[in-house]
Amino acid sequence: MNYENAKEFLQKHGQLQLLDYYDELDDERKAQLLKDIETTDFSVIEKNLNASAKENEGQPEPVDAVSAEQIKANAEKYYNAGIEQIKAGKVAAVALAGGQGSRLGFNKPKGMFDMGLTRPLSIFSLQMKNALSVAEAAGRAFPIFIMTSEGNNGDTVNFFKENSYFGYPKDKIYFYVQNAAPACDFNGKVFLDEKWKVTKAPNGNGGWYSSLINGGFKSVLEREKIEWINIYSIDNVLQRICDPLFIGATVANGYASGAKVVKKTYPEEKVGVLCRRGGRPAVMEYYEISDELKNERVNGELKYCYGVILNYLFNVNDLNSVVSENLPYHMAKKAIAHVENGVRVTPKEPCGYKFETLVVDMVGLMKDCLAFEVEREREFAPVKNAEGVDSVQSARELLKLNGVIL
Ligand code: UTP
Repeated sequence: MNYENAKEFLQKHGQLQLLDYYDELDDERKAQLLKDIETTDFSVIEKNLNASAKENEGQPEPVDAVSAEQIKANAEKYYNAGIEQIKAGKVAAVALAGGQGSRLGFNKPKGMFDMGLTRPLSIFSLQMKNALSVAEAAGRAFPIFIMTSEGNNGDTVNFFKENSYFGYPKDKIYFYVQNAAPACDFNGKVFLDEKWKVTKAPNGNGGWYSSLINGGFKSVLEREKIEWINIYSIDNVLQRICDPLFIGATVANGYASGAKVVKKTYPEEKVGVLCRRGGRPAVMEYYEISDELKNERVNGELKYCYGVILNYLFNVNDLNSVVSENLPYHMAKKAIAHVENGVRVTPKEPCGYKFETLVVDMVGLMKDCLAFEVEREREFAPVKNAEGVDSVQSARELLKLNGVIL
């Protein structure tokens, strides 16, 4: 694409501001900007900026979970069934590590965040230690795919290398970069990250499977005959990877997918809740559930009480049958660094939109989803914020409660 083509192309999309500083650039950066423009999918903005929110189909209904007590009662059966799946090489894990962690305000990949006080204790190391313990119990290392994003891929790969892959067999760890979408101001004008670079952000955790396939890893899944994929967020320091109990319960009960859930402790708690809508599983996000549903109780218990913790199990056949269905984009208001009047600014307050697809929408494409209730204090210690709720401090407390020396 040359300058004239770019100008015409941008004019058509109403994005000419991206050439505002073109004349100031040297030849290399001019070429870089033109390439960047050519590879930007502006349709994400055009299709979503003024689209009215899609109505959810069907009335929500609550779901039953395999309760923590039932899991205890069936522990041996579920554990053995899960271990058998891992031993047979049917299970893989995907770490969702492509986020930007803007609320935490840490300028490295979130998994590199050091939870230690007297020794180095990164989130990656905690999670890999858990994965290793499962692999050892099963006598077989399962593949772990680490989804990164353009901005954090290099740091993530280096960190694993420097730490000798945390003792996990190196040939079972695969890195892939998730796709990105442009970010814009509230009027839909795409930002420049630098005068020669269009602002793009990772396109949400819903893109994990399509990005894995686009990254060329279908052959690995096929070669290894993977039937189940456990995906997990990077920001839960008590995360259990390929938990045999969870795998065993999902497989033994004949489900196509499973979601680890915790009982909500109060109606306003900021977690999405698992429910059913129109005969399919669904997640009502905390910002979309009505006050009425949020507070509704049955026999004193919240009717919609099972909060998802971003640890899911998906059957690969079912994933393959829905991968071509486009997940909707959600517009997230974010503070986005950009060039303004010739200077790069890093606002503290939201100044525009990022466009993200979400795993929760993928759950809605599955024919069913087992709600698997886990003990919050043992498995859910999110690190979202620098301070306060779901912060480094609260996660450290929970690590200590679980006997981890910080
Ligand atoms: P969050 O929704 O909390 O986003 O991610 P984030 O980017 O980490 O943090 P904020 O919102 O900017 O503060 C939940 C999980 O999904 C992953 C994150 O890495 C985290 O494990 N994620 C999120 C991705 O892998 N890709 C994305 O595009 C977004």
